[in-house]
Amino acid sequence: MRGFVDLHCHWIAAIDDGARTVDESLAMLRGLHDIGFDTVVATPHMRPGMYDNDRSHLERAYLAMQRTVAEGGIGCSVHLASEHFFDDVVFGRLIRGEALPYPGGGAALVEFGPAAFPLRVQHRFFDLRRAGLAPVLAHPERYEPVWSDDACLDPLIDAGAHLLLDVCSLTGKYGRAPQRAAEKLLEDEAYEAACSDAHKPGDVDHVKRSIQRLEELVGAAETRRLLSDAPLALLRAEPVR
Ligand SMILES: [Fe+2]
Repeated sequence: MRGFVDLHCHWIAAIDDGARTVDESLAMLRGLHDIGFDTVVATPHMRPGMYDNDRSHLERAYLAMQRTVAEGGIGCSVHLASEHFFDDVVFGRLIRGEALPYPGGGAALVEFGPAAFPLRVQHRFFDLRRAGLAPVLAHPERYEPVWSDDACLDPLIDAGAHLLLDVCSLTGKYGRAPQRAAEKLLEDEAYEAACSDAHKPGDVDHVKRSIQRLEELVGAAETRRLLSDAPLALLRAEPVR
């Protein structure tokens, strides 16, 4: 299968906990292309206090890599967005148009800390929708509150959130609890799309095995929807006004 669109990947070098060097960036992109990805969106962390990246910083790093990617003969097309840590600072940037939504401008990737959801997060998601942005929630299966009862995601879905599966959760990369949560959410057809969340070249093998597992669980047509059709639609989504 080809034509996959990766909505979440840390391939830009030396900007967060992803690729450390340009060679690693190129190895990741080549590896992802080899296993079926034709489009890979860079989503470096924007997380104040940990990865102090703002939009202009990330745009400069991406521009600096674009020529290297072109010269490196990489077969997939690349784009820039960001994995927005959902604190007050980054929320403000999203609302004011100072963040990095997906290229169409109508959806943005957000993540939480592992142990608890932010307070009143569903209200903040409504605010995002009013600002024209659909929140795409990174790896919901990896948040601790979801392990005991995934009904905690319902208010977020009601507020317009799209759930983005990290495929490697399906093969135990993060442990048994996220794996079980991912299987349950898949069964419930709760995911809008799936992604690699790859951080290093060595992750590609894991992603490949995980896509095979995904296909075993849901079949070829649903795998294509999760990794191709739906991510493409989110990538092209225009602001909802
Ligand atoms: Fe990530």
